[in-house]
Amino acid sequence: MDPVNVPEYERRASERVDPAAWDYIQGGAADERTLRSNTEAFDAITLLPRVLVDVSCVETETRVLGRPVRFPVLAAPTGFQTLAHPEGELAVARATAALGTIMVLSTLSSYPLEAVAAAAAGPKWFQLYCYRDRSVTQRLVERAQEQGFHAICVTVDLPAVGHRERDLRSGFTLPPHALPRNFEGLVDTSAMSDPANPSVFAEHIGRLVDPSLTWEIIPWLRSVTHLPIVLKGILRPDDARHAADRGIDGIIVSNHGGRQLDGVPASIEALPPIVEAVRGQLDILLDGGIRRGTDVAKALALGARAVLVGRPVLWGLAVGGAKGVERVLDLLRAEFALAMTLLGCRNVAELNPGLLGTA
Ligand SMILES: Cc1cc2nc3c(=O)[nH]c(=O)nc-3n(C[C@H](O)[C@H](O)[C@H](O)COP(=O)(O)O)c2cc1C
Repeated sequence: MDPVNVPEYERRASERVDPAAWDYIQGGAADERTLRSNTEAFDAITLLPRVLVDVSCVETETRVLGRPVRFPVLAAPTGFQTLAHPEGELAVARATAALGTIMVLSTLSSYPLEAVAAAAAGPKWFQLYCYRDRSVTQRLVERAQEQGFHAICVTVDLPAVGHRERDLRSGFTLPPHALPRNFEGLVDTSAMSDPANPSVFAEHIGRLVDPSLTWEIIPWLRSVTHLPIVLKGILRPDDARHAADRGIDGIIVSNHGGRQLDGVPASIEALPPIVEAVRGQLDILLDGGIRRGTDVAKALALGARAVLVGRPVLWGLAVGGAKGVERVLDLLRAEFALAMTLLGCRNVAELNPGLLGTA
């Protein structure tokens, strides 16, 4: 029987993925306090439904960066998706296209972005790590634009890789099939799969990713692409304001799934003051800890336009390839639609903080 919810996909996936790769996927930074709080903070929010509302027709559709999505759950960028399934990013592209939502493709994809673009015609954004060598960064952005990606999503919470102790313990290295394939001819990534040097992943990122990045990157990016720009990894209202003042199109309130600085708040806790600071000026998305349709409803009620899921996509992928991802996303869609119905909300605009309490 197919799993009936996302946590069951997690359990099923744990039996299928190589143990060191599983730790890489599941893990967070240091004591994993932030990782745990991402889900616990959703549990601490209760729902207060409105009754006797005509909910015979409930619509989950919304618009993200001005474009329609069937339901407000996107696939977050996660690197090296062939760790979960040989079809990796190609399968995720097919599943998101089939369901009418957006895939955000990682810079560290195990398939070249051209192959992912060719796998399915659905809408995609390209997640960008800004490399020290600006010509590499520029080439990645240009290729994404040429291939019809709809936005560039710049990850701003990784000037260095977080302290991932599970990976240190397991001596995790990338198997050759999972190496990032967007750099062929640009950067040599082969050392990332050197079993004699397991910390090389963090070293590689440390060597390549530009820790001197500042807000100056925005005008530079605007000079190399006309695509909308989304910043991923915002946790402070003042940074959200900076983004709005610089004409950024969207932000993702995110702590990188608890994988970067341990001790930062759950992303759902960081959301309300950010919404307050920039209300209406740009699209606010959120990721981290979404496991149920009710979590999606809570995030939207607090002002997010949409959410993204990282690990749940990888669990679906590990269990059933493209079909598994489709099923995970469709479970979240159906649970979200039911949550709206039971809350007395006919469309996403009717979700509001008055529907929430605290446990
Ligand atoms: C295995 C794994 C790899 C990830 N790789 C990337 C990446 O390449 N780029 C990025 O911006 N975020 C990356 N993330 C963070 C996700 O985009 C997202 O912020 C996080 O997974 C959301 O939390 P969730 O897993 O609880 O849904 C990764 C997360 C995981 C679990």
